Amino acid sequence: MNNDTRPISMKHITTPNLARSFISEQIPLLRSKIGDGKVVTALSGGVDSFVVAALLSKAIGKNLTCIHVDHGLLRKNESEQVIKTFHDVMGTNLIHINATDRFLDKLEGISDPEKKRKIIGVEFSHIFEEEARKIKDAKFLGQGTIYPDVIESHGIKTHHNVGGLSEDLGLELIEPIKFLFKDEVRIVGKELGLPDAVIYRQPFPGPGLGIRCTGAITRDRLEAVRESDAILREEFMKSGLQNKVWQYFTIIPDYRSTGVHNNQRLWDWPVIIRAVNTKDAMSAEIEEIPWVILKRITKRILSEVSGVNRVLYDLSPKPCATIEWE
Ligand code: XMP
Repeated sequence: MNNDTRPISMKHITTPNLARSFISEQIPLLRSKIGDGKVVTALSGGVDSFVVAALLSKAIGKNLTCIHVDHGLLRKNESEQVIKTFHDVMGTNLIHINATDRFLDKLEGISDPEKKRKIIGVEFSHIFEEEARKIKDAKFLGQGTIYPDVIESHGIKTHHNVGGLSEDLGLELIEPIKFLFKDEVRIVGKELGLPDAVIYRQPFPGPGLGIRCTGAITRDRLEAVRESDAILREEFMKSGLQNKVWQYFTIIPDYRSTGVHNNQRLWDWPVIIRAVNTKDAMSAEIEEIPWVILKRITKRILSEVSGVNRVLYDLSPKPCATIEWE
């Protein structure tokens, strides 16, 4: 057994009691490993990063600094929500960087999806590093690696995370949830007092809306994808679909089509809706959304999102299509 194998003796965390035992075992372990050292961690807003931050905050309080980098590719109001939840649940040190212009400038004119991912990942690491270096005496990097990250690499698209940073920064890696599966992370998160909006947040890729605004990202399409995504999520919430569908979002491709409004010819973007169910993200089925809901969402997108004249529903399972368009 190497130290990347989940110990056989480790019970699957299925109940609040088991989650409490996990937390009370982890806290002294973290304290003895960290001592008086300082820890930095990236807070993306996903459940894994929040659980790691909450565990570390319980263990070492003020010696933890969380860094939240807003790359401008997050969903509507997402950064504000991350900051609010952080203050509600932890309230220790948070550095919040709005780096929208920096990311969008670097991405200008870049249309290849893998190049976009790379630029976003590298820029994220640079910003994180710049901020982490400002924290005097930082010795450790907390990271929300979970067990599927350790055992799985599907290699079709490169996924963006903060791996490799610890070596560049000369920090020792701390991965308190690296043997947990997602369902266990959620139960632990609940016991740590995280809100359901964080615990049951649908998966959101590291490069964010950047891979849903296909081709070279433009600010107008980015805003349109953000607004249409917000409408979709609001309508799914209203109709209870958010609990039935694993991942749902909108995409704006980089081509226009002809439309008409008030006798005027339009040359605008389409919005594509994607809603899928899956167990492991390796294959996925589309969700059958009632027409009445699709029509309501379409009506809202066409009237509330500027620059859009068409709404489409993606019927493709994975395979052949991947879940994301890029
Ligand atoms: P695909 O598109 O490969 O997506 O069928 C499978 C799952 O992975 C997510 N995904 C990503 N997550 N960085 C991430 O952190 C990425 O670059 C990335 N690309 C895809 C996707 O949202 C889905 O949940």
